[in-house]
Amino acid sequence: MKKGVFIVLEGPDRSGKSTQAALLKDWLEKRGREVVVTREPGGTYLSEKIRRILLDPKSDIEPMTELFLYETSRIKHTLEKIIPALKAGKVIISDRYTLSTIAYQGYGRGLDLRTVETLNRIATLDLKPDLTIVFYMPDRIFSQRERLRNSRDRIERAPDTFRRRVNRAYKLLARRPGVERVDAGRSIDEIQADVRALAAKVLRN
Ligand SMILES: Nc1ncnc2c1ncn2[C@@H]1O[C@H](COP(=O)(O)OP(=O)(O)OP(=O)(O)O)[C@@H](O)[C@H]1O
Ligand SMILES: [Mg+2]
Repeated sequence: MKKGVFIVLEGPDRSGKSTQAALLKDWLEKRGREVVVTREPGGTYLSEKIRRILLDPKSDIEPMTELFLYETSRIKHTLEKIIPALKAGKVIISDRYTLSTIAYQGYGRGLDLRTVETLNRIATLDLKPDLTIVFYMPDRIFSQRERLRNSRDRIERAPDTFRRRVNRAYKLLARRPGVERVDAGRSIDEIQADVRALAAKVLRN
């Protein structure tokens, strides 16, 4: 069924996912690949609507409702955008996917990890990325980048202890097979060099 390549970029807020996704896309396109950049929550009309609900600071959402909203957005995204792109032989780069739900709703909110993993499997129809890159960013660097911004969405308004739990979760999740960890506390160019080397490996397979 699958001819394309599915690459996921993961990591805490402000770790450089969007920056690196755009640079990787340009590089792959210069090498003649057709590339789709997408994001979670979001990526389709319906999923972007769910994203707005999730990030709205006025939304009152308890953890289990939050989990189901993320997974609902993911099913639609997987069916409508990711699988068709892969069938068409494209490279699809997703800014966040299932590891985010484990890190934020599992470790961050404290929901049962088996429940999260089960829902992830259902929502992805068992589709696995060819490569997941975790941008690991020490708490200290987060604080430096954070000072530069003036507005925060609902998830970003969570207390510092929440963010630290998420960060620790990413460190653990980066040890899984198929997941690579990249030190996000360096320059954009240094990080991109690592990202390209990792992508090149899965593109050759
Ligand atoms: N390696 C880097 N060094 C310094 N600043 C960086 C680096 N990479 C990205 N930035 C800056 O840090 C901010 C966050 O980067 P970016 O938006 O790419 O992260 P993100 O992981 O997509 O964040 P979010 O989760 O908020 O979408 C931006 O202002 C970006 O220009
Ligand atoms: Mg981003």
